[in-house]
Amino acid sequence: MTTNIAVLVSGRGSNLQSIIDNIENRYIQDAKISVVISDVGDAYALERARNHGICDVFIDPSDHPGKKEYENEIMKVLEDNDVDLVLLAGYMRLIGKDLIKSYRNRIINIHPALLPSFKGLHAQQQAFDYGVKVSGCTVHFVDEGMDTGPIIIQKCVPVLEDDTVETLANRILEQEHRIFPEAVKLFVEGKLKVEGRIVVHRN
Ligand code: GAR
Repeated sequence: MTTNIAVLVSGRGSNLQSIIDNIENRYIQDAKISVVISDVGDAYALERARNHGICDVFIDPSDHPGKKEYENEIMKVLEDNDVDLVLLAGYMRLIGKDLIKSYRNRIINIHPALLPSFKGLHAQQQAFDYGVKVSGCTVHFVDEGMDTGPIIIQKCVPVLEDDTVETLANRILEQEHRIFPEAVKLFVEGKLKVEGRIVVHRN
């Protein structure tokens, strides 16, 4: 059975591109991106979707009286597209409780730091400013907290003496583009089991 995926984005969409590429090259099989949803009208990610013939939708949060109504519209798009799995690929908003309830353990986020360190926005800057010697990225299921859900995969990268935030962010991004597709593949193949906080990888 094909897993129908929705990808939520806010910007550049390089992580979206890594998922598209890994479906097209068949690293991830039996999966399809049914829809890409953005909260930003001119996000380049929307153009990437269109370039690959994927349905793209802009939902403007300011068109709605509140978060609940905004997310109700997202949920309608997810239902209309029979979505099984939601990916947050550079989506810069917290997911509300109704959406989490409907898609419990079926929403996956990529975060550019080694959680539980440096949650929230500008994680690479936070790590750089703190002076850590290693950083990295985390793919995790989304729960009600901010970047607190069960961890699926993490990858470390060194922080080098001559790094700037940009060079560090690029080194992390390179690993994001590996572990996000890897996590999606595991999910699609039914190999992830969530036991409390622990995600078990089954063979
Ligand atoms: C990525 O580094 C992603 O990990 C991060 O935003 C960037 C989006 O890049 N996400 C967060 O910070 C979420 N809190 P992209 O649009 O090129 O995928």
